[in-house]
Amino acid sequence: MNAQSSVQLRSGNAMPIFGLGTWQLTIDTAGTVAYALELGYRMIDTSSDYGTQPGIGEAIKRSKISRGSLYIVTKVEETDDAYQATKEYLSEMDLEYSDLMLIHRPPTTGAGEELWDGLIRAKKEGLTKDIGVSNYSAELSQKLIDATSEVPTVNQIEWSPFGHSGDFKNFCAKNNIVIQAYSPLTRGNRLDNKALNQMASKYHKTPAQMMLRWNIQLGTVPLPKANQKSHLEENLGIFDFEISTQDMEILSNLNEEYSSLGSLPYV
Ligand SMILES: NC(=O)c1ccc[n+]([C@@H]2O[C@H](COP(=O)([O-])OP(=O)(O)OC[C@H]3O[C@@H](n4cnc5c(N)ncnc54)[C@H](OP(=O)(O)O)[C@@H]3O)[C@@H](O)[C@H]2O)c1
Repeated sequence: MNAQSSVQLRSGNAMPIFGLGTWQLTIDTAGTVAYALELGYRMIDTSSDYGTQPGIGEAIKRSKISRGSLYIVTKVEETDDAYQATKEYLSEMDLEYSDLMLIHRPPTTGAGEELWDGLIRAKKEGLTKDIGVSNYSAELSQKLIDATSEVPTVNQIEWSPFGHSGDFKNFCAKNNIVIQAYSPLTRGNRLDNKALNQMASKYHKTPAQMMLRWNIQLGTVPLPKANQKSHLEENLGIFDFEISTQDMEILSNLNEEYSSLGSLPYV
């Protein structure tokens, strides 16, 4: 298993089990993403409001990795015309298709049915291989499914040992929706947790690696962001060890419904 291993989505398409987040990855985006690709990262997560789409497009060109071996995720915003925005964002990255287009967050009213219709059209026309949501609760996901019969392949949510939910995971499993974990390192805010550090010492790993490996073993797909080369390298060092069942439980019990944004929308 490594960063290029994949999980099968409900569509039948394969998605890497690990990826690179690019929110605030604005110090030489192209150079940093190109370095990540060189290290073996294959999935890159972005959004039009991160300002990283052009840099990612540039990094893909520099890398010379075939498009089919890469997995690019981007998102439409609440106020977008989802179909037109998909075209616009692809053009920013100079790509013909994305692998996954997400609704970034649900609109203030409704479940985003109009955005979803736009993404369904984009998928039908081959502009994206798969479509999904982000920051959706089980209730809102169900509303979208009921309205359109189209089940999201992925829900990208804030998810770490310090903030997660068994009930929500069960809902996703039942509907065959893969969870992508954003802010899997709690944006650094829980890296100094004592229990986490004790366990990291036991496995001769770092606290960041423990949090990422916890995701991998849970079957959720972490998207850590790292601007620093040493962090990009460290975060790949999670495929050569295994956390015991008992220690997985200890990590899961660190849950305090932590959210760097204030609250978890799915709890
Ligand atoms: N869908 C959404 O609404 C949504 C919301 C938030 C985030 N996201 C996505 O998820 C990605 C990740 O989330 P995030 O950026 O919020 O937070 P994160 O990945 O939990 O944390 C990023 C922070 O951790 C640091 N870091 C990385 N590796 C480290 C390591 N091994 N040891 C210590 N520190 C380390 C980074 O530092 P350096 O950069 O200095 O290396 C950065 O400050 C985003 O970039 C974005 O793609 C999506």
